[in-house]
Amino acid sequence: MRTQVAIVGAGPAGLLLSHLLGLEGVDSVLLERQTAEYVQARIRAGILEAGTVELLRNVGLGDRLDAEGMEHRGIHLQWPGNRHHLDFVDLTGRSVTVYGQTEVTKDLMAAREKAGRPAFYSVSDVELHDVTGSPSVSFVDADGRAQRIDADVVVGCDGFHGPSRSFMPRQKVWERTYPFAWLGVLADVAPSTDELIYAWHPDGFAMHSMRSPHVSRFYLQVAPDEDIARWSDDRIWTALSERLGVPGWTLHTGPITEKSVLPMRSFVTTPMRHGNLYLAGDAAHIVPPTGAKGLNLAVADVALLSTALTTSFQGDDGLVDAYSDAALQRVWRCTHFSWWMTSMLHRHGDDFDAQLQLSQLQRTVTSEAASTELANNYAGLPL
Ligand code: APR
Ligand code: PHB
Repeated sequence: MRTQVAIVGAGPAGLLLSHLLGLEGVDSVLLERQTAEYVQARIRAGILEAGTVELLRNVGLGDRLDAEGMEHRGIHLQWPGNRHHLDFVDLTGRSVTVYGQTEVTKDLMAAREKAGRPAFYSVSDVELHDVTGSPSVSFVDADGRAQRIDADVVVGCDGFHGPSRSFMPRQKVWERTYPFAWLGVLADVAPSTDELIYAWHPDGFAMHSMRSPHVSRFYLQVAPDEDIARWSDDRIWTALSERLGVPGWTLHTGPITEKSVLPMRSFVTTPMRHGNLYLAGDAAHIVPPTGAKGLNLAVADVALLSTALTTSFQGDDGLVDAYSDAALQRVWRCTHFSWWMTSMLHRHGDDFDAQLQLSQLQRTVTSEAASTELANNYAGLPL
């Protein structure tokens, strides 16, 4: 087979990159290790920045998003006895939209099917060859047949555990692991809040999010090596009620349908290009989910890269030469914001640390400048 762009990984980054390139008449082939069902079944955050929503609408992916997405003006920041709403629309003119990453992925898969360019699923033994010359990707397809794709360019959209980074010889890596993890909970119960609640609590951070008017999503700060068997449904509801509770407010409970412990890390690798091999999305960076940046940063990478590759195929290499530095500017901005939100909201260290966090929360909700800075980063800086 031959294509212009061989894309390893058909998560949100790979699927969107293939879609954006297709709109520009650039051919691509998607290679995915898992099945389509497996990719869709990943339960992940679904907070879309204003810029992400606008981009998806502009490229024909806005119909279900506009019908089912829940537009939120802002979030609630909380500590014991205090809940404050930050209104991003008042502060910045921009809102955010709650629309599960699973839904974004389903819409992207449908678009690739409609374009007649669905991913190759259930592939294995993916290897990249001659990425600084005439690249090719060898793999074994779902039927066990050895295949090879010759391409002008290869893009690694294969996430944190994918192989693409290993074909980049001189990577610098920054990594920060946090002394806590999130216990994620999905429950069949209507949300007890209109918009997301981020709560600091002496026992640990808690969040009330949602997937739909009938499905709530919660997170509890736990130890990084937490044994989920120690968290019965009752213990989960008790902890959520304590950490999210404020006078006059009730947490409604319901059947818990999924619970899992999610690690927290910051990870950046540079550069995001080596010859004709590029990285985008989680393949190049991981942010703690506190800032809801993971999906939005993947979208920003591929929006930049699709334009850069398109103009390169038209003979102008200016944008591809600038891609890594330009992408990394936003990567570090989102990495800092995600670290900042995580450090402010998660209980760690001693009482002195707790007092600093409470002072920072108080300052953030009472200073228009401080709340505007949070709102600009959360709602998303211009793409
Ligand atoms: N061969 C083919 N595909 C692979 C390989 C491989 N060797 N290794 C990994 N993959 C696939 C994974 O199965 C996954 O579907 O690459 C895809 C990477 O997708 P994601 O991990 O979702 O990463 P990305 O597309 O960059 O999306 C980032 O997803 O992880 C969340 O929080 C993150 O919301 C953010 C978004
Ligand atoms: C979620 O709904 O899963 C979610 C929302 C906001 C975050 C992280 C996760 O910051």
